[in-house]
Amino acid sequence: MNPDILRHLNTKQKESVTNYSGPAVILAGAGSGKTRVLVAKVIYLIKEKDISPASIVMMTFTNKAASEMKERINRQLGGMVKLGYVGTYHSFCVRVLRVFWEPAGLDKNFIIYDDDDQKTLIKQIIQEKKLFEKKTPGYFSYYISLAKNQMITPERFLESFKFHQAALVADVYYHYQKKLEKNKGVDFDDLLIKTVYLLQKNDDVLDYYHNKYRYFLVDEFQDTNYVQYLLTKLLAERSKNITVVGDFSQSIYSWRGADITNLKKFETDFKGTKTFYLEENYRSTQNRTRGSSLCS
Ligand SMILES: Nc1ncnc2c1ncn2[C@@H]1O[C@H](COP(=O)(O)OP(=O)(O)OP(=O)(O)O)[C@@H](O)[C@H]1O
Ligand SMILES: [Mg+2]
Repeated sequence: MNPDILRHLNTKQKESVTNYSGPAVILAGAGSGKTRVLVAKVIYLIKEKDISPASIVMMTFTNKAASEMKERINRQLGGMVKLGYVGTYHSFCVRVLRVFWEPAGLDKNFIIYDDDDQKTLIKQIIQEKKLFEKKTPGYFSYYISLAKNQMITPERFLESFKFHQAALVADVYYHYQKKLEKNKGVDFDDLLIKTVYLLQKNDDVLDYYHNKYRYFLVDEFQDTNYVQYLLTKLLAERSKNITVVGDFSQSIYSWRGADITNLKKFETDFKGTKTFYLEENYRSTQNRTRGSSLCS
């Protein structure tokens, strides 16, 4: 059998697509067809393995990447198919929390604070506490996010962070969180944390998602932080049908808590993980071709 979808893939890419169930890691450099392989795998699952599109989840890091993914899938399937979910981790969490706001301990009409709202709130605290000379809002938001990415609460901040101004940051973080709660607000990091807690503490909610979603594909896995990894693990721990692709030489989000050890965790948490390497770089071939034609 050589279905259409496999025709435009090299041997290694084909192997990683037809290995359709169980945990898999695909490692490769830039331009080696990682995203192409993920899209092909989704098509392969639907067309060749009769998997319900509604049970498939694709996680990406930007909305732009998500739209590209959707467009590529629609083009190949004639726009007839709607996957369970394609988008960013954050939008996924918003979806979950809008349904299960109550067990998540949120207000029905919780408000999402973006980066600017977050800075405004921190500015208020700086004013109230007269911290003008100390640090900027960006300084505090950096550490708050760093702590949240590791699920460290304000109360436990000092156990993990030992730098000069740590006590000050812990205090601002504490008041920031109090103000957020009072305003029925959640920031971007909270969206992830609240969803992870929800799934950890409510077996029936977790059960609901385990039944709903059975195939998981994660692009740019090198950029997942600890909380995102926990979420992925929780969602996929029953079906174990999870494919992650990553390029660990280009972790552009490392400043935001992206964690290379997630790869090691994945292999430990998902026993029997198969690893695939995509070795051919199509972009450099294209560049070389372009370069050589310029030279000739
Ligand atoms: N087997 C193939 N045959 C021809 N072209 C390919 C093949 N695999 C990938 N390409 C092309 O190589 C380019 C890069 O592919 P893709 O975006 O899937 O790679 P990527 O590894 O996800 O890149 P990035 O690291 O930027 O995310 C695209 O133009 C794609 O169409
Ligand atoms: Mg890609």
